[in-house]
Parts: sequence; C-alpha cells; structure tokens
Amino acid sequence: MGMRRISVLLLTLLAIMPGAIPTWAAQPVRARHGMVVSRETHATQAGLKVLESGGNAIDAAVAVGFALAVTHSSAGNLGGGGFMLVRLADGRTAFIDFRERAPESATHDMYLDANGKLTRDSLTGYRASGVPGTVAGLEYAAKHFGKQPWAELVQPAIELAAKGFPLSYAQANGLRGGGLNAFPESKRIFQRDGNFYEPGDVFVQPDLAKTLARIAQSGSQDFYHGETARLLAADMQAHNGTITLADLEAYKAIERKPLTGHYRGYDIVTAPPPSSGGVGILQMLGVLEGTGFEKGGAGSAEVVHYMTEAMRRFFADRNQWMGDPDFVKVPVAGMLNPEYIKKLRASIDPVRSTPSSEVKPGVFTGPESFETTHFTVADDEGNIASMTYTLNGGYGSKVTATGLGFLLNNEMDDFTAKPGEANMFGLVQGEANAIAPRKTPLSSMTPTIVLKDGKPFLALGSPGGATIINSVLEVMVNVIDFNMNVQDAVNWPRFHHQNLPDDVRVEPGYSPDTVAILEKNGYTVRRVGAQGEVAAIRFNNGWLEGAADPRTEGTAAGR
Ligand code: GLY
Repeated sequence: MGMRRISVLLLTLLAIMPGAIPTWAAQPVRARHGMVVSRETHATQAGLKVLESGGNAIDAAVAVGFALAVTHSSAGNLGGGGFMLVRLADGRTAFIDFRERAPESATHDMYLDANGKLTRDSLTGYRASGVPGTVAGLEYAAKHFGKQPWAELVQPAIELAAKGFPLSYAQANGLRGGGLNAFPESKRIFQRDGNFYEPGDVFVQPDLAKTLARIAQSGSQDFYHGETARLLAADMQAHNGTITLADLEAYKAIERKPLTGHYRGYDIVTAPPPSSGGVGILQMLGVLEGTGFEKGGAGSAEVVHYMTEAMRRFFADRNQWMGDPDFVKVPVAGMLNPEYIKKLRASIDPVRSTPSSEVKPGVFTGPESFETTHFTVADDEGNIASMTYTLNGGYGSKVTATGLGFLLNNEMDDFTAKPGEANMFGLVQGEANAIAPRKTPLSSMTPTIVLKDGKPFLALGSPGGATIINSVLEVMVNVIDFNMNVQDAVNWPRFHHQNLPDDVRVEPGYSPDTVAILEKNGYTVRRVGAQGEVAAIRFNNGWLEGAADPRTEGTAAGR
C-alpha cells in the first residue's frame, strides 16, 4: 500500500473514532538526554546549559528558578515562594514547600477596616507580602538533590541581570501595564529614566545582580540573616510593612511527603497541603473514573459537563476545609475516601448542571493575572524537577525592595481575609484558611508527576491561581484518556469551574454548538481568554517530549 493510501486510511479511521485526535497537529520538542520547559527562553537556555555541563534536573531547575527571577519579572522571583516536586532516578520523591508564611504580626482580621470591610492591603503595598521562601527552597533543593556547586547555579541569573537581555513584546507590555508606577523604587527599576521600556530594549538590573551575587556567595544566609535580610527588614519598617528581621530569620523551607494516588493504572505523585492542587487532582480523577465521561470525546459538551461537575464538587470541599496542615486538620483522607468519591460521582446528573447552591461540602469525621510560573526539567539519569513558584498577582505587591532589585509577593491575598468573601481569584474560602502568624496560605499550585509501571510518564504544572488545578487535570486527561500527544494536550482549549461563582469559563475553541448544549443543560457559560500556561514533559520510549504552552512565550529545549 502506498504512503498516500495509508495516510487516507489513517485519516478516515481518525474521523470515525470518537474522541480521536490527529496527533500530528502540533509537535513537542523531542530529545533523548535532557529537557527544560519554562516560560522564558533565557531561563530555559540557562537550565539546558546546566544539564549540558553535567548538572542534574534539580540543578537545572535551580538555575531556571534564579534566571526567571531576572527575565520573568511578573512571576519569577526572589521575593515570592512556591513548591518543587522532585522524583529521583532511584524512585525517591520529595516535595519542597517554600511557600510564603504569614509574618508574626499577622492577625485574622488584618485586612478588614473598622467597619469589617475588606481593605485592598492584601493586594498591593508593603503589607501584602508573606515572608518569601524562594531562596530557601532553591537552596534546599540544590543541597539535598543537586550535585553542582551552588554559585554556578546562580551565575546565569547574575549575568542576565548584570548584562541585561532584550525585552520581548509581551515582557515590555507587561511592564507597561504592570501597575508598578505607584511605588517609586519599582518605577526606578522597571522603567528607564521615567519611560517605559520598549520591546527589544535591553533590560539591565544592577541592583538585582548585586543581590544575586551575595546569594551566590552565601545563599540563604544572606537572604534571611545577612545584608539582604537587613535591607529588606529596614525597608519594610520604613514603609509600615509587616515583615521583620525576626520573620526572615525564622523562615525555613519544609520537605513534605508528596501526595500519591492512581488513575486508570497510572500512579500520580502530586502536591500535598498547603497546596489544594494534589487533593483536587486525585479527587476529580476519582470522580471521573467510572462515569464514562471520556466517551463523548475531547471538546464535547459531555466531557465538559462531567469534568465541570467534578470541579464544582472539589472546590466546595477545598474552600471549606483546606488550609495549612501545620495549623488546621485538613481532611485529605476524607476527601479522597473511595466511598465519598463514589457518593460525589453518584450525585452528578448525566446531562444537567447541578447548581453550586445545591453542592454542599462534605462532612469529614475521620482523620483529616494571575501570575505564577511553572517549569519542568528532566535529565538523562531519570531525575525530574517539577516546580511552580509565584509572586501571586502579576508583579506581586508591586513593591520592589529598596536597593535590592526584586519584587515582593502579595501572597497574603491567598488567605481568607474575610470568610465568605472572594479573594483575587474569586475564591470564596473559609476559616481553615484564615490568617494566623507564621501560617502558610492555601495554594492551588500543582506540580505533578505521573508514572506508568513505575517509570516516568508525564510531568507537568501550570500557573493560573485557582485554574491551575483544572488546567493540570485537563492536560492529564487529554494525554491519558484522549491519547493526545503532549503538545496537543497542552494546546487544547481549557475550561474552569470553581464552585463559586457558578459559571463554567471556556477558552476560545469551544464551538457555539458545544456552548449551546451546555447552556441548554443549565450551565452559565462565560467565554474567557487564555487559561494557564502548562509546561509539560512526556516520557515516551526513551524520548523526552517537551511541550511549552503557546498561550504565552514558553519554550522547550532539549539535548
Ligand atoms: N498564588 C496562587 C496559588 O498559590 O494558588
């Protein structure tokens, strides 16, 4: 049979197989010996160079983390925090929690005015920040799981900051619209002589280069106990901020046991609390498995329906019960109990939407712009680092620490500032996530690794606040249930439901017919722009297939 006839046959088969996706539509980057997928090309290259010089995936991830702090100002950071999920070639796994913690002076009602109304202080300014964790987290990762000298991992970031790099169209536009003008130090750093940078302008950050050079020399000692700590605490004090030297000195990254579960014969290693993401992924996959949802085919109203109902039910539980496990009892076992999951599944009508007002969180008596960025790295020894970190909102609190050159987070907004009222992501949360001194705000960041027969199959994560969990879920389902190649799976249009508000938000790409069916079945459908920015690696018969997200400027590069 000639090639042409084979192609015609293949196309015909694909046309008649429900849910079949032409897998040549978009191609991932393929390599055999190492892969880096990140949001920004200089950072991707920094990670790749570390792999080429003999570093492992964790070394490369540390270099990418520092490089993004220079080249992806809205989310890459020294002044924020995040999670790194590690799987080593020998099968060991670790979850490094370097999320921001509330300062000692934080109180339950610190963002309420005298009338009990929410102030905007959790969003911008010196009172919006949790104690940053990134430097501690990257150092913990390098010390425990890396093999290259620390200073060499910080060096690419120092060079990018000192010599500068040309701003892309999106980066220049981001700085223009970033709301940084309100703070003189931010204006000084992120504009040139009072003018916005244009695309193609070389962006040099000498203050940040100096801070990074100190970190290269003395690591977290400098950031939490040394000159950087003193300058940051003094700047906070001068601006009625909340973070003190004692807060910085008390900061520690925490290694936690990753959460694990199963779906259709795959083993899933994912983020435990204080992330809500891993519990969400496992609960929603549990609800979906056994519904037959996949029969409708990717993009069908039936698939959107079942997945939305799983999302709606998970977010009801999340918002009621989840918080920092070191402060509140998070009912992880209850939320993942097979009997409970069965009940959730049974409560889904096969066609119609269940109004969120009718979905109550479970009762568990047993033990129990969103700008962020994710990158994924794999090396040829079989080590994987899947890391999500953030300033929370775009450019965080908009405050640049004076003389230090880095932005501070506004992660305090991830707490419940007032039970029952929505935060920046529209999440309506409860007391479990209320503010307390040294507490960690609940997160949705979901770095995840999927294994098949004990071997890596897929590693991924995304930014996007509450949408992170659903973006990760959808890409997993696209690969596992709809057999898409990883690039198609990442590119595929996404949707989101978070219980409240009771609407399903769909990206462009869902047809008017699909939307009409959903509306007929009781859904309020809201068309939105891009959701998330997944960075994924699929492990495929000795090939590493890297998929950056075309929604932004992500790149994948391999060796
Ligand atoms: N800052 C977003 C999150 O952690 O969910």
